[in-house]
Amino acid sequence: MNAIVSLKNATKSYLLGKVAVPALCGVSLDVQAGEFLSIAGPSGSGKTTLLNLVGCVDTPTSGTVEVAGHNTAQLSERELTRLRLHTIGFIFQSFNLVGVLDVYRNVELPLLLQGRLSGSERQKRIVALLDRVGLREHTRHRPNELSGGQRQRVAIARALVTRPSLVLADEPTANLDSVTGQNILDLMKELNRTEKTTFIFSTHDARVMSHASSIVRLADGRLAASAHSDAASQAELAELEPMQTGERLPRKRVGGTS
Ligand SMILES: Nc1ncnc2c1ncn2[C@@H]1O[C@H](COP(=O)(O)OP(=O)(O)OP(=O)(O)O)[C@@H](O)[C@H]1O
Ligand SMILES: [Mg+2]
Repeated sequence: MNAIVSLKNATKSYLLGKVAVPALCGVSLDVQAGEFLSIAGPSGSGKTTLLNLVGCVDTPTSGTVEVAGHNTAQLSERELTRLRLHTIGFIFQSFNLVGVLDVYRNVELPLLLQGRLSGSERQKRIVALLDRVGLREHTRHRPNELSGGQRQRVAIARALVTRPSLVLADEPTANLDSVTGQNILDLMKELNRTEKTTFIFSTHDARVMSHASSIVRLADGRLAASAHSDAASQAELAELEPMQTGERLPRKRVGGTS
């Protein structure tokens, strides 16, 4: 199988004044097409930083990040935009919705930028998706008229509307009640099963993690371990020491995703 994402010794440091703050310290990771991969780790461990590198929102300080066969450091801005628009769907932790646009227009935006579908085709797709995420009643509301959980669902619909082959989801169920969260998880799993969409999602939620085909854990910007997603392995996981910088991560599959 081909890796759709491949990180080799990727590091990321942020400059705070004159001090470099390491957020990722030599992460090597291959994600195969069709995986349903969970990234676990405490707050500040580097989950968002990692997703930003894979999502071409940011570039590594050193090391390489390959997405769909492209070394992201070698792409022009235009090529990066193309990759983000046509291959990747990103559900941001902070949603990043456009405040002046209503729900429908926020979800329509990537389709307009792609310029591939007619107005009626766009409408069909958007309405079906808004139905699916439970926002049909809110199509004409703007983000500031919505709850946190509703905004999160708009962000989810916007990321999925182009039917990307890779979806990056930063804590996609963090603001949702358990029923809505399960509904979103079911939708993600269905796309993973039927469209072979690759999902990489960060989460703190053990229930969400338990649905993953594999789990990697970050601690202080390093990959710490991989594991089965059952409760016993979770306990095991907590015991494991961070791996050496740059070491390639052995990961176990955790069975089917359905
Ligand atoms: N733009 C930035 N400037 C400076 N430091 C940053 C920036 N973004 C992240 N960091 C730092 O990098 C580290 C990793 O942050 P990151 O947001 O990736 O963690 P996280 O695992 O996503 O946490 P959370 O679970 O709280 O979302 C943290 O120490 C954080 O303070
Ligand atoms: Mg984060």
